[in-house]
Amino acid sequence: MSVMDELAVRISEREALVGVMGLGYVGLPLVREFCAAGFRCLGFDVDPQKVRMLESGKTYIKHLPAAHFKKLIAEKRFAATIDMKRLKEPDAILICVPTPLDKMREPDMRFVRSTTEAIGKTLRRGQLVVLESTTYPGTTREIMKPVLDARGLKLEQDYFLAYSPEREDPGRVDMTTRDIPKVVGGAGPRSAKLAQALYGGVVSQVVPVSSCEVAEACKIVENVYRCVNIALVNELKLCFDRMGIDVWEVIEAAKTKPFGFQAFYPGPGLGGHCIPIDPFYLSWKAREFGATTRFIELAGEINTAMPEHVVIRVAEALNEHGKPVKGARVLVLGLAYKKDVDDVRESPSVTLIELLQQRGAKVDYHDPFVPSGKPMREHKITHMRSVPLTPQSLAGYDCVLISTDHSSIDYDQVCEHARLVVDTRNATAAKRRPKGRVVKA
Ligand SMILES: NC(=O)c1ccc[n+]([C@@H]2O[C@H](COP(=O)([O-])OP(=O)(O)OC[C@H]3O[C@@H](n4cnc5c(N)ncnc54)[C@H](O)[C@@H]3O)[C@@H](O)[C@H]2O)c1
Repeated sequence: MSVMDELAVRISEREALVGVMGLGYVGLPLVREFCAAGFRCLGFDVDPQKVRMLESGKTYIKHLPAAHFKKLIAEKRFAATIDMKRLKEPDAILICVPTPLDKMREPDMRFVRSTTEAIGKTLRRGQLVVLESTTYPGTTREIMKPVLDARGLKLEQDYFLAYSPEREDPGRVDMTTRDIPKVVGGAGPRSAKLAQALYGGVVSQVVPVSSCEVAEACKIVENVYRCVNIALVNELKLCFDRMGIDVWEVIEAAKTKPFGFQAFYPGPGLGGHCIPIDPFYLSWKAREFGATTRFIELAGEINTAMPEHVVIRVAEALNEHGKPVKGARVLVLGLAYKKDVDDVRESPSVTLIELLQQRGAKVDYHDPFVPSGKPMREHKITHMRSVPLTPQSLAGYDCVLISTDHSSIDYDQVCEHARLVVDTRNATAAKRRPKGRVVKA
């Protein structure tokens, strides 16, 4: 039997051991789905604390219950390790490591490179390597293949390489990883076939594409689409605001059109690991081909300016109440970048806190998902703690700024007790809004 056939059999009989590199927001749900489909998983991470926490039944991602992984570990269906020498064990290795931007806002490929180098050290015949991290078209073939080839094995004969973008939407409850169709492109036809077979046993639908480059481009297009459309509604919000028209009401009405319109919502700025970052992976790569990506640049400009706009609205609203920003007590409601998750990466709330502090405001935050400020690449918020949200505490602030619309917050209570509310998410839409005390931004 050929190396490929042997691996295909191991996959179809669920004997293949699946390695997952990077046990974060993307890697952990993947482990859960592969285990649920009957595969055994070996998780790798460079962070020993994450491995220790998983083993001791603790969680570091709120919406993924730790007990589930503890049970999988006890049943020997899952193990987590920092020992990269064990990378020779899995039959398939799925890479879910970060792909951020560096200080110059260019792709930071350190994590993909170091992961590939670690895999390259122990690569053996019959291994399938799949990159899932979001990246620019060309990464799998241009960055990963040369490193893996250096081991002396031949792609498509000895080892196999593919790209399959992750489409995880943390916090979403109406859909699991299994329900989301998986786009798969191989570095060659055999790699494609094996990767399709692997994911086909786990997700409800595999979408084969002709190459890893198409799969890479597909993911970037999905995120550019969101980034540009969010920028559009953010700009329309500013425009309608001047006309005295509520943009959220407009969108609710527009979305009743049964075709040709998809609703996107304005906010205080972009957050998370994907939308503010991924489009710039494409702009960077486009430069190599002399191509321009003006929509991406413009969307970035508009979205990045949103926190400043919100702070101006806070200042105007405080002014109406006879208060300067300097010395005002402001409560930022929601630190996570979107509702019902504990992820603060690139969160506009953090930018809002900093901008308000720069203007002399005394800022606290409340977030039921984020009890204390987490370490961030460009911000220092680890000293901050979520303050309790009570009628008394609400009444003690000059302004409550709703930056994330977590579902568990009682917005009636907020509107009733806060002296002034600035709402960037339309969280108070259906609530009793005392005139002059609730301002949309
Ligand atoms: N979070 C999302 O909603 C989402 C959705 C779709 C795609 N993505 C993409 O998936 C990728 C991973 O994102 P995430 O949100 O899971 O990130 P994350 O930071 O939550 O997890 C990444 C994990 O990789 C680990 N890691 C870093 N370097 C490593 C290495 N060399 N070897 C092994 N592990 C290493 C980190 O310790 C961390 O635990 C990114 O490319 C992201 O753009 C994320």
